[in-house]
Amino acid sequence: MSAPTEPNVVTVGTYEGARDAFRQKQLRQALYDAGEVVMADVLVNLHGDEHRARRRLENRLFRRDTQQRYERSLFPPIVAETLAPHVATGRAELVSLSHQLMMNLAAYTAGVDRPKGTAEETFHLYSYMMRFIEGATLAHYTGDRAAKEAEVAAALDAFDAEFLQPSIARRRDALAAVAAGTLDEADLPRDVLTVLLRNRDDLDLAPDVVRRESCFYLLAGAHTSATAFVRTFHNVFELDRTSPTDGRRAREDLAFLQRCVHETVRLQPSSPVAMRWALEPMTLLGGHEVAPGDKVVIDLMAANRDPEAYGPDADAFDPHRPLAPGVAPWGLSFGLGMHACIGQELAAGSDLAGAGAGTDDEHERLFGLVPVAAQAVLAAGAHPDPDDPARLDPTSARGYWAAYPVRF
Ligand code: HEM
Repeated sequence: MSAPTEPNVVTVGTYEGARDAFRQKQLRQALYDAGEVVMADVLVNLHGDEHRARRRLENRLFRRDTQQRYERSLFPPIVAETLAPHVATGRAELVSLSHQLMMNLAAYTAGVDRPKGTAEETFHLYSYMMRFIEGATLAHYTGDRAAKEAEVAAALDAFDAEFLQPSIARRRDALAAVAAGTLDEADLPRDVLTVLLRNRDDLDLAPDVVRRESCFYLLAGAHTSATAFVRTFHNVFELDRTSPTDGRRAREDLAFLQRCVHETVRLQPSSPVAMRWALEPMTLLGGHEVAPGDKVVIDLMAANRDPEAYGPDADAFDPHRPLAPGVAPWGLSFGLGMHACIGQELAAGSDLAGAGAGTDDEHERLFGLVPVAAQAVLAAGAHPDPDDPARLDPTSARGYWAAYPVRF
């Protein structure tokens, strides 16, 4: 048997080139190839008709009115409940706090109930989620992969028994009550699990697919938002030093804080690259020739800092940055095309530079859960702990914070 050959890799690093690559229908997802234990058959790994059908089903949840309800009434009590024990002690570590916060919000969206609502339960679910993240990113694991995969599979079984099956049972009861006419349709839970169990499009969804899709929503929503959250805090604390007026404004003006989140997400995308396999020969914008089996790497870090799109100071954090029409404030950090992030508006709110901008319709506008949660933590008085400075993770080249202690 001959040794597998390394694929030819084509890297795209301009803003327009990246947009073009994201839109190519003959490029298939390649980022999670080694993470099958959690990621097999989940939305972001599907292609073509299968992807279209699943996305259509799940899109039902991400309608504007539902997102508004999340942002305005469902999420704030969860933020308050998660934050309270930290504020009570007068201090918190933002990396852990942000994961707890965003995971509790993501669990709500996914349909994973936390019946006790206690801090212990949050920590317990958090430890499962961190295992699932390890499973999804097995490609980067340098230890014994088979052993790690078995560990993740065992965590999936335990999570299923402890959290998911009871959540499924509650939703099946609610759906039966709607069918029997004893529950109003509008009172059904608004979450991905309910959409999947209801399966109004009659897709063939095996129980293990429902299980992985629920886990995927838990980590897709939580980890990305949590990293964006901590990095935004760092940038706001930097503003306090470099431009105190802007630092104050970030605390008083939610729209400005939203711009701080967008700039943060642009400069530091959760995943620095997107990856695709070419299914057919094609020529990408800029003249890159691609053959079937080639790997296309979309360099988000470079595309988001392209001076053609963001100006000569594209590398700088500038929440006042003017944007040309059609240029996204968050760069391409939410992807584009068929796999464009389904939770983009929920996480980061309305695109003020895009469609609908300038309508000034406060009723329609979404700020996004990252800005709204950040506002709550800032309003509680969070500031860097003078006795315990923040530390970057020395093992990560991607600028992850290992610990960010704050006081209230
Ligand atoms: C700051 C927060 C977030 C960032 C930076 C982010 C980023 C991304 C990116 C880059 C992709 C595309 C991946 C690719 O093309 O390969 C994506 C897809 C996705 N995201 Fe997000 N995301 C965020 C928040 C969320 C939230 C809150 C949810 C759930 C409520 C979510 C659910 C998803 C799903 C389901 C997909 C797959 C869409 C598809 O394949 O059709 N994300 N996200």
